[in-house]
Amino acid sequence: MIAQPSPWYTHAAQRMAATGPASTLRAPSRMEWSTHRGLGPGAEVLGTDLRGRRVLELGCGPGHNAAHLAERGQAVVTGIDLVGLQIRRARGHYGHIGNAAFITGHALHYLQATSGTFDAVYSVFGAVGLVAPELLLAAVSRRLKPHAVLAFSVPHPQRAGGLASTDDRPRQDGVTMPDGTRLPVARWEFDADRWAAHLTRTGLRLTSALDLRHPHGDHRPTTLLITARKH
Ligand SMILES: C[S@@+](CC[C@H](N)C(=O)[O-])C[C@H]1O[C@@H](n2cnc3c(N)ncnc32)[C@H](O)[C@@H]1O
Repeated sequence: MIAQPSPWYTHAAQRMAATGPASTLRAPSRMEWSTHRGLGPGAEVLGTDLRGRRVLELGCGPGHNAAHLAERGQAVVTGIDLVGLQIRRARGHYGHIGNAAFITGHALHYLQATSGTFDAVYSVFGAVGLVAPELLLAAVSRRLKPHAVLAFSVPHPQRAGGLASTDDRPRQDGVTMPDGTRLPVARWEFDADRWAAHLTRTGLRLTSALDLRHPHGDHRPTTLLITARKH
């Protein structure tokens, strides 16, 4: 058997080959929870005043949302990503923002190793949904301060006309590469009730579940945005 690179590595490598080194950017004016700009709520999901708050992103990619929270929200943000090339992009774009740090690593391993605690943890199509929820949510819960927020968006289980999983196992999904090819990835495709049950088991309480729809798409929801709070 020939070992394959992670689809996330291939995605980042193709993007970097096409765009070249990351240039310095200003932080975006809004936090996005979906791939459609301006859709649904923004950073207020994580709290109305994030100044000085410790915030962690699981699967930050090129760091746009982390940069927004650090520069515009004045939060102290750490972005973790599995792929070093993504962290290089994030640092290239936003390394000038002093209260944003970008670290290469697996979200679960980072949470297990850190002694830090957080006022908010979030994931935007990132590690939540791509790592076994019973492990990842438990690790998040241990690092959240009392009453702190976990929020995450995932591809909606009904986005392609399908249904959410009826068990706790992952399904095979595909990730579209910049060159248009698709590579397989395992994804947990739960509805809000199943997420709520998993959250409850780890000491978190689901506080909101929002279906987001692209305004010019068909009627199907594209993104599921879940918010929870530590007891
Ligand atoms: C679809 S991208 C989203 C990136 C970013 N959140 C955004 O909205 O632009 C998914 C990201 O999650 C990262 N990722 C996947 N599994 C991960 C894990 N176990 N730990 C940390 N990052 C992970 C990938 O490397 C990739 O950069």
